[in-house]
Amino acid sequence: MNKLFLMVIPIAIAAMGCGSESEGTAGAGGTAGTGAVGGMGGTGGTAINCTTPEEILRCDGVVLNIAHRGGLRIRPEHTLVAYTQALADGADVLELDLHATSDGVIVVMHDDTIDRTTDGTGAIKEMTLAELKTYDAGYDFTPDDGMTYPYRGMGLLVPTLEEVLVAFPDVPYVIEIKQAVPSIVDDFVAITRARGVIRQINGASFDDDVLTELRAAAPELDTSFSLNEVAEYVQNTIGLEEAAPGYVPPAEFLQVPPSFDAFTVIHPTFISIAHQLGLKVHVWTINDEDEMRGLIADSADGIMTDDPPLLTTVIDDTGTGLPD
Ligand code: G3P
Ligand code: CA
Repeated sequence: MNKLFLMVIPIAIAAMGCGSESEGTAGAGGTAGTGAVGGMGGTGGTAINCTTPEEILRCDGVVLNIAHRGGLRIRPEHTLVAYTQALADGADVLELDLHATSDGVIVVMHDDTIDRTTDGTGAIKEMTLAELKTYDAGYDFTPDDGMTYPYRGMGLLVPTLEEVLVAFPDVPYVIEIKQAVPSIVDDFVAITRARGVIRQINGASFDDDVLTELRAAAPELDTSFSLNEVAEYVQNTIGLEEAAPGYVPPAEFLQVPPSFDAFTVIHPTFISIAHQLGLKVHVWTINDEDEMRGLIADSADGIMTDDPPLLTTVIDDTGTGLPD
């Protein structure tokens, strides 16, 4: 975890006396209760007209169902099967993590090795795409705590970024660049531009250097805050009703967990100030129904979940989804 982030958050929270779970998290009790989003009617009853992937990603007054790693509770993470099921289950957005093989092909995997999710071992950056494609990407998925492994031997492979974009060209994405060295930014930008999808992507990274490079390489791409930028946001908003004078957001999307370890990230006016600044707030990774409801009550713009069908149920129940 980023050291500056870990230092700044507790300092800011302690300074404002907002350290307790009950005061500040976006959990079951919600945060400051800034009011439910407008759902199909939009905030203030305004009709929602978000139909293209670009519009959906930036849609006001709805909660986006973001399939974290394609919804890893439901299908083997980061597989085409997972993305297909997530969309069928009501996900609005697919979240991807990126690395690259030794021959420079960008692939979608969370870890930098294949050990946890496949039947192989080794670092992705040390194997060719052809070698990576020999491993079973459904090998370790179990829906019942190890009783069964229903996707073993079913032919699931680690997908390339190109393969995902070809299979799902009209979907909004959160795409996190995990690999920092060697940089994959230029290839990522080239692929997404060539596919004509760059404006339907929220470009994310925890790494300041990756984000700096990404923003320079693709000014048309909207991005997420880095960890340090989130810390700076908290410093400039915690305990306030509006951002501190002179604060300028560095990006368009705040993607945050409700808390890091014992430290609350989402303070009571975190989301409402973000909206004043024209930012969208996506919260990860939420698999608890009450926590989903709390975030919806607080007007979160997107919830990243391993369980898209559960979130669909909650969004439908609260009337806060995109129009059909
Ligand atoms: O990008 C935010 C969220 O995806 C972080 O979770 O799965 O990348 O560790 P993860
Ligand atoms: Ca991620």
